[in-house]
Amino acid sequence: MTVPFLVDCDTGIDDAIALSYLAAHPQAEIAGIVSTGGNVAVTAVHRNNLVLAELLGVDAPIARGADRPLVQEPMFADDTHGPGGLGHAVLPESAHPGDPRTGAQLWVDLARARPGELVGLVLGPHTNLALALEIEPELPHLLRRLHFMGGAINHRGNTGPTSEWNIAVDPEAAQRVLSAFTGAAQRPVMGSLEATETVRFTQDTLDRVTELATDGGHPIARILVEALRFYFEFHQADGFGWMAHVHDPLVTAHAVTGDFASTRPLAVDVELAGTLTRGQTVGDELGRWGRAPNLEVLTEVRPDEFVEHLLETLRAGLGRLSDPAWSPRP
Ligand code: RIB
Ligand code: CA
Repeated sequence: MTVPFLVDCDTGIDDAIALSYLAAHPQAEIAGIVSTGGNVAVTAVHRNNLVLAELLGVDAPIARGADRPLVQEPMFADDTHGPGGLGHAVLPESAHPGDPRTGAQLWVDLARARPGELVGLVLGPHTNLALALEIEPELPHLLRRLHFMGGAINHRGNTGPTSEWNIAVDPEAAQRVLSAFTGAAQRPVMGSLEATETVRFTQDTLDRVTELATDGGHPIARILVEALRFYFEFHQADGFGWMAHVHDPLVTAHAVTGDFASTRPLAVDVELAGTLTRGQTVGDELGRWGRAPNLEVLTEVRPDEFVEHLLETLRAGLGRLSDPAWSPRP
């Protein structure tokens, strides 16, 4: 039985790997994609999603999200993901028409169409999910569950000293999402930096993705190799050595399989007013707020098992993927 996912992402390099994993996994269905500005501007994110979906044979609506965060001025991470968002990768032109709806409307329409079935997976800022909640406040009860990559609990940030990128880009949106999903049937799962940074792509990982691209391999593999090469160069320049922290795929694989990490309940909120800490995700480990836990936070990650699973899923799945399953609508 396949599980339908709505993927809201700011594609980006690790988002692209996560989308490829979902398309390759036999138990996952990409029911829709929402393009959210983040790593690069929403126009570039949307183009990346259209091209990747076409190459992956994903026959699902792909909607462009809002032009900017709810309150804060937009910021981008082209130093990390490259000016186009996929590093050194050269993308083919896409004729994929995309969906005329807004990203927020696509969230609402898909959740209403499949009540209790659709799993929300947010791999970028929460802007469009927050806008969707304004249209449909019942969204937390229509979705089967929400998983997101974001935040950092008692761990340094990767954007501000205490803030993680997806939350830092639109803290108001993240705070509204956490508030709205408090009381959902299943607590949302948060894959924060202290969990996702246990996953380290090395040269060996890069070599094994390169193998997927050789001998008539799937064209997406070549794109991932060229994207990852840029990612490694960024991490080396940033002092991490020749490696890459790859965040989104771990959260995605856990959302599909429930494996490769455990979770722990925690009351979490987003700092909006801190002059030094705006965008920080604060976890109330001691129960000082007197609030019940509102999230399940990934913990006890098994990174090596996950990387093996990711590479095997791509190897087995990419070969199976059909040619583009969509044809431009008349
Ligand atoms: O902080 C890492 C997150 O920010 C990842 O989702 C990456 O793609 C960027 O969106
Ligand atoms: Ca992302």
